[in-house]
Amino acid sequence: MKALVYTAQDSPAVEQVPVPEIGPDEVLVAARSVGVCHSDIDLLEGRYIIPFAYPLIPGHEWSGQVVRVGERVKGLAVGDRVVGECVIGADHFGFSISGAAAEFFVAKESWLHRLPDGLSYTMGALVEPFSVAYYAIVRAGGVDASDTVVVLGAGPVGLAVAAATAAMGATTVVVEPSADRRAAATALGAAHVVDPDGVDELLERVTGGRGADLVVEASGRPPVMARALELVAFQGRVAYIGIDVGREAGAKLGLIQSKELRITGSIGSPGVWPETLRFLAGSGLDLTPLVTQRFGVDEALAALDAAHHPESTIKAHIEFDAVL
Ligand SMILES: NC(=O)c1ccc[n+]([C@@H]2O[C@H](COP(=O)([O-])OP(=O)(O)OC[C@H]3O[C@@H](n4cnc5c(N)ncnc54)[C@H](O)[C@@H]3O)[C@@H](O)[C@H]2O)c1
Repeated sequence: MKALVYTAQDSPAVEQVPVPEIGPDEVLVAARSVGVCHSDIDLLEGRYIIPFAYPLIPGHEWSGQVVRVGERVKGLAVGDRVVGECVIGADHFGFSISGAAAEFFVAKESWLHRLPDGLSYTMGALVEPFSVAYYAIVRAGGVDASDTVVVLGAGPVGLAVAAATAAMGATTVVVEPSADRRAAATALGAAHVVDPDGVDELLERVTGGRGADLVVEASGRPPVMARALELVAFQGRVAYIGIDVGREAGAKLGLIQSKELRITGSIGSPGVWPETLRFLAGSGLDLTPLVTQRFGVDEALAALDAAHHPESTIKAHIEFDAVL
């Protein structure tokens, strides 16, 4: 079978490797769609938050179909369409253990969730990034049609937040320097999109000077993280999803007290996958505008390259169609 293999640091290759064997409590999954994330590039370049070793098959944003089941597997059958969580005990699928960017891969029943019938394989591979957005909104206390939400940054994560808060009924304002990404935010349901320079004026108009009920920081840039405190309303909420390790920026920290703010951070999406899948199936939300490029397995290196070009790529998917 074919697989995208990180053979060493900065050395990706599409290789022929044996179809893996499964144990009694495991299933063999045929990959269908696999998304490329910043963290896949970090892993290739030698950076990740827990120990790992090459050679390694990446891929943690995926959907697939069960093609073999071990004798002790009770809840899944050949033909089931599935998605899977990334953090599994001490391991991270697609990071510290090999992942989904292969025609076939091994998974355990306990990591997997059935993909609801109405969701395509493309949507399935977007469940992982969407779950990160959904979890952050849950941690912030949720939103409804009474709320104005400002989303700072319209990468895949910020766009997923915007799609979710719009689907939940909130008036959603997306702040993003890239015009293409602002257009994607509109396609996903944002009521207003604006360049960072225009946000004060827009928010004044949309909220009558009250500010945002919830600001979600999804750029990972410290000055933008600081800015969130200025855009939020009295007794509003700020949710930090964007990641930064160690950089600094000046911030008006007194606003936390004087505005009586509630602030949450989030990492990953623990415990919310069943709810996330019900939300996607129930809302009918279409996240496919996030996928700007699709590649076959033979073009997997081009998919990695696309992820280096945020000016033309929001999310690249590698699509598979192998049968046993
Ligand atoms: N908390 C988690 O579990 C989790 C999971 C995945 C990703 N992340 C983090 O979330 C962040 C977003 O991820 P992504 O994949 O969407 O990244 P991304 O880099 O594609 O998106 C960031 C966006 O912020 C925009 N931006 C730049 N300057 C800005 C400004 N002044 N105001 C508003 N927007 C600005 C960029 O143009 C870009 O579109 C990253 O920091 C990533 O590491 C967190």
